[in-house]
Amino acid sequence: MRYLPMQSDIERVLFDEAAIHKRLEEIAAQITADYRDRELTVIGVLTGSFILMSDLLRRIPLPLKLDCLTVSSYHGKTQTSGEVIFKQPPLPDVLDRDVLIIDDILDTGHTLAAIREKLEQAGPRSMRVAVLLSKKKQRAREVDVDYVGFEIEDEFVVGYGLDFMERYRNLPYIGVLKKELIEPTS
Ligand code: IMP
Ligand code: MG
Repeated sequence: MRYLPMQSDIERVLFDEAAIHKRLEEIAAQITADYRDRELTVIGVLTGSFILMSDLLRRIPLPLKLDCLTVSSYHGKTQTSGEVIFKQPPLPDVLDRDVLIIDDILDTGHTLAAIREKLEQAGPRSMRVAVLLSKKKQRAREVDVDYVGFEIEDEFVVGYGLDFMERYRNLPYIGVLKKELIEPTS
């Protein structure tokens, strides 16, 4: 098969579709057991978690409510700026709800720390966090996460919802992007 440009930008595949789905089965079973007596309110962090949400939530046979919020802290680079912008007021209603935040990846911690802080102010009954990936690194802000798909090295990854400058989100697997594509040219 001829390789398309998107695939040839990937240095190596970290988790293929089968590996991701297998891990999602385990996490979904854990979440289902943990929330069997409660009504879940899931808050998906867009855009990166859209594929994860779709695959994970279909494996959770519980009544749940789904809401999304959009934040951005990047400005087209691979480093988080530290400033997290809430693009979409008003925030989902979480008063007295058992909230599960779903995000694609925990990197510096800025994003999830800011989201946690913001939603805590809205009076949820409980709040947990699920991420597909967590980078092994010293974080700028410590964040408690309750469900983690995979721990990875501190490398820039794309696919399965994760982007580099809004591209590669539709790759069905998670891969490391070739260094020369993300390194600054000057
Ligand atoms: P944090 O605020 O640094 O923890 O970054 C969280 C957000 O940065 C994630 O929700 C992603 O959108 C993005 N991000 C962090 N690391 C990567 C990566 O390796 N690939 C793609 N996006 C990433
Ligand atoms: Mg992103």
